[in-house]
Amino acid sequence: MLSFAGKTVLVTGSDRGIGQAVAIQFAAAGARVALHFHSQADAIEQVRSHLAGSGHITVQADLADAAAIERMVNEAIAAFGHIDILVNNAGIYQAHPLDATEFDQWQAVWQDTIAVNLLGSVHTAYSVARQMIPRRQGRIINITSRGAFRGEPTAPAYAASKAGLNAFSQSIAQHLAPYGISVSAIAPGWVETEMSRSTLESPEGAAIRAQSGFDRVARPEEIAHTVLFLASEQAEFLSGGMSM
Ligand SMILES: NC(=O)c1ccc[n+]([C@@H]2O[C@H](COP(=O)([O-])OP(=O)(O)OC[C@H]3O[C@@H](n4cnc5c(N)ncnc54)[C@H](OP(=O)(O)O)[C@@H]3O)[C@@H](O)[C@H]2O)c1
Repeated sequence: MLSFAGKTVLVTGSDRGIGQAVAIQFAAAGARVALHFHSQADAIEQVRSHLAGSGHITVQADLADAAAIERMVNEAIAAFGHIDILVNNAGIYQAHPLDATEFDQWQAVWQDTIAVNLLGSVHTAYSVARQMIPRRQGRIINITSRGAFRGEPTAPAYAASKAGLNAFSQSIAQHLAPYGISVSAIAPGWVETEMSRSTLESPEGAAIRAQSGFDRVARPEEIAHTVLFLASEQAEFLSGGMSM
């Protein structure tokens, strides 16, 4: 079992799904966790109250708002002194098939998706990395998607936002390595969460599960396990890598 005793972690979108699993595993491994949430204040309190250890905090921000991101990061730093590990997990997926979406709706989905999935993550990374640089250590892990590589026929903004986040991860990994900061991206296929529930429960679900020889999709805990491995000291040299 990896130990993160004495470490501090900021996990975005940790009220449910993959983010919640990441927060639970970091807390169980001894870290203090800043649990970011957007709209689910009751849910995040529930998560916080069930975490192992003590000293965890909750921080709120709409990640489409750069000023809110800066405030959120400053709140976490004020509480913890510094942030050792950032997990950019929060994201949105909105279907907008080109042949069935009006132009105003098409533009709105592109703007929202890029604002949250790409700019939300890169501005959070900026704010956290700026305080990691003088400390000459840190880990940033971005949750992207397999869709960045395979395409998302009915959600092209989602695929593009995640491809952008992959490129950002590789760029910033090179830029930040001299400061002792590792940056990784994890690009999962389907994961059993709120985001995928309606599709997995639809008639399409069986074919999606059959894409894997295990005849199932990933569990949030499995993605979280990969996050902890990439955040560990032993994984420093994987910086710039992409786990799928
Ligand atoms: N599930 C999958 O099959 C799958 C596959 C590949 C990659 N991923 C990626 O994995 C990550 C986590 O996915 P998940 O399945 O756990 O998703 P989820 O259960 O839908 O949770 C998404 C989280 O993002 C937050 N969020 C959404 N818009 C936000 C905004 N404007 N500002 C701040 N937070 C916001 C949500 O909070 P609110 O609801 O309060 O807005 C929620 O906490 C995402 O980046 C997703 O793209 C998921």
